[in-house]
Amino acid sequence: MMDRREFATTLAGAFAGTMLGGVPRLAFTRVAAPTINAARLNTRLKELSAFGANPQGGVSRVAYSDADRAGRAYVMDLMRSAGLEPRVDHAGNIFAARAGSQPALKPILFGSHIDSVPEGGNYDGTVGSLSAIEVAQSLAEQNIRTRHPLEVVIWANEEGGLYGSRAVSGQLTAAELDNTAWSGKRIAEGVSFLGGDPSQIATVRRQRGDIATYLELHIEQGGNLEREALNIGVVEGIVGIKQWEVTITGFQNHAGTTPMDRRQDAMLAAARFVEMVNRVVRAEPGRQVGTVGRIQAFPGAPNVIPGKVVCSLELRDLDATKIDRLYGAIAAEARGIGQQNGTTFDYRPLHENVPAPSDPAVRKIIERAARALGYTTRHMPSGAGHDAQAMAQLGPMGMIFIPSIGGISHSPKEFSTADDIARGARVLMGAVLLADTR
Ligand code: HGY
Ligand code: MN
Ligand code: MN
Repeated sequence: MMDRREFATTLAGAFAGTMLGGVPRLAFTRVAAPTINAARLNTRLKELSAFGANPQGGVSRVAYSDADRAGRAYVMDLMRSAGLEPRVDHAGNIFAARAGSQPALKPILFGSHIDSVPEGGNYDGTVGSLSAIEVAQSLAEQNIRTRHPLEVVIWANEEGGLYGSRAVSGQLTAAELDNTAWSGKRIAEGVSFLGGDPSQIATVRRQRGDIATYLELHIEQGGNLEREALNIGVVEGIVGIKQWEVTITGFQNHAGTTPMDRRQDAMLAAARFVEMVNRVVRAEPGRQVGTVGRIQAFPGAPNVIPGKVVCSLELRDLDATKIDRLYGAIAAEARGIGQQNGTTFDYRPLHENVPAPSDPAVRKIIERAARALGYTTRHMPSGAGHDAQAMAQLGPMGMIFIPSIGGISHSPKEFSTADDIARGARVLMGAVLLADTR
């Protein structure tokens, strides 16, 4: 059986670029790469989708819920059948290490998350998580020992805001432990619920240089790869995300006896705010996005003019300074809205994901792993946030995308084909082994 170094050399050798007529034509031969068990991987994805399954055909496996904890127990059993011994850290992350032949080397980490958004899909996070376990299991079954120690990781509460991975990267603040998660639990309670210890959460922190490479396979959650009929996305960078809770305060009053020109209607101000966010974000060229995804009026009765509205504001872009500039413009226009109808706007920062470029050498590794398998690729940014952007604080990071059918995600309609999932897992395997030659 080909050993790891031999495979990696073959893989590297398989990619011999030659220029024909100025157009790079890649001469590569298929390599007898270590295989992954595609049927097993796709069966396990179906089994995992049962935890928190919703009637729409997706999942509501939000972080710190019973379904999340049950799904985690299932994947920890898979880790054990892969010959790994999972452990839960004080932030609720699941790590499973596999020894390397040179234990002094820094570990190669790879994995993703299995928590979902409310009414989410069956592939966001789970493809990368189960593929990571599949790679580790296939390496063990084919007696391939890497030089670097390996760590398969399932991050806690990715969807709420990279809570688990930001605890490891040192970006989580103590105040955030008081935030309330979609499960209704405070973050600190949720961490305990998963077997972590919020009072010890600072001890999970790792320093820059503590990891050799971080790799994450994920669905694209957009439509580019499908539209261009490409197999693999090599991620150039991950957008920054800032979220706020916005409280709009007016004056609660009787809906029947208060004349229309004497109202301080928080809901009217909120409606104008939502339209304004869309207008301000679209007013300049670029791929920035802005969303009001949640809104609630108080007291919330048809015959009461809302005295208060609480909504979310989320801004994303690869450039953090653009996010701050857009936030400033939105807050300034909101003040104008308030002056028109006697309402005020207050903002509470919820969390921030720092924009993260991937590492050029890791991008090349992913590119080579894909080409050696005969797959087509393109380089692209990620409009979705990922734990990989926290890991970029600690060392070289790279992400592998596979197509999302219809570009749909964060929806029960989210779908990726079994073949694309298998291609992604094979590229992850190849990338881990090439990273191991560094
Ligand atoms: O929200 C996101 O971009 C990611 O799916 N958590
Ligand atoms: Mn995700
Ligand atoms: Mn997501």
